Amino acid sequence: MATKIRIGAMISGGGTNLQAIIDACESNAIDGQIVFVGSDKDGVRGLERARNHNIETFVVDYGEIIRTYRETPEKLFPPSDFDLDELWLKQSLFGPHADSRKVEFFLTTRAIAEKRLLEHMADYDIDLLVLAGFMRNLTPYFIDRFNVDPDHPRIMNIHPALLPSFPGVDGYGDTYRYGCKVGGCTVHFIDYGEDSGPIIGQMSFPISDEDSLDAIKERGLELEWHLYPTCIQLFAQNRLEVVTMTHTLDNNETVQRKIVKILQD
Ligand code: GRF
Repeated sequence: MATKIRIGAMISGGGTNLQAIIDACESNAIDGQIVFVGSDKDGVRGLERARNHNIETFVVDYGEIIRTYRETPEKLFPPSDFDLDELWLKQSLFGPHADSRKVEFFLTTRAIAEKRLLEHMADYDIDLLVLAGFMRNLTPYFIDRFNVDPDHPRIMNIHPALLPSFPGVDGYGDTYRYGCKVGGCTVHFIDYGEDSGPIIGQMSFPISDEDSLDAIKERGLELEWHLYPTCIQLFAQNRLEVVTMTHTLDNNETVQRKIVKILQD
């Protein structure tokens, strides 16, 4: 029997992807087990799904942290190893012209939340963290403390669009409103940007003029439930290799990009 990897999952909502991953672990389609499910808010259906399978859960209430810091900042402290300038330089969620107070507020409140996430996770010794409908961007504070080896990223996300098109919170909505004739979903490793890390797998579906946004979401989600477990199993089998490619463009500029290669079984 293959050794099972230990998987942690973060969610924010209904958790249908989480359910697909739990089911795939239970049927051995994934050589792994989910050892915790964390959420950024309490009372969501995904937490109930986890408990139904005797998986431990925790909540780090991002909304509460953000409110408290806005109203009474003296009540919350950033972690002792928080370095605002370092995170600001590394992150690529905000451009150079972003409002500096906004960036500072964002990075500080997220680091407070992420420190709590790391404390909860410390007990579990996981191999892989999967973001399954987790609607928060992780900052370099968290990423660097969990992804200690940059050549072996171990935080995966699923996104409801064919990246790099339509990053952000409403991938299917953006695909629909743009009038795309094809939609899809993407599983990728996360990096310091928004939905910008190396792509592991994608699935697509056709869109006709008659399709409603709801129909597109439904079709996309069904593909997600297949794609995410497939990509996690590739990770469990140690078949994902991240390589840095250097390309020379027509104007002789060179660009570097990390991509994922899928090794043969
Ligand atoms: C999915 O469409 C996922 O791609 C996106 O959020 C949605 C979560 O759905 N990030 P669920 O909570 O897994 O049902």
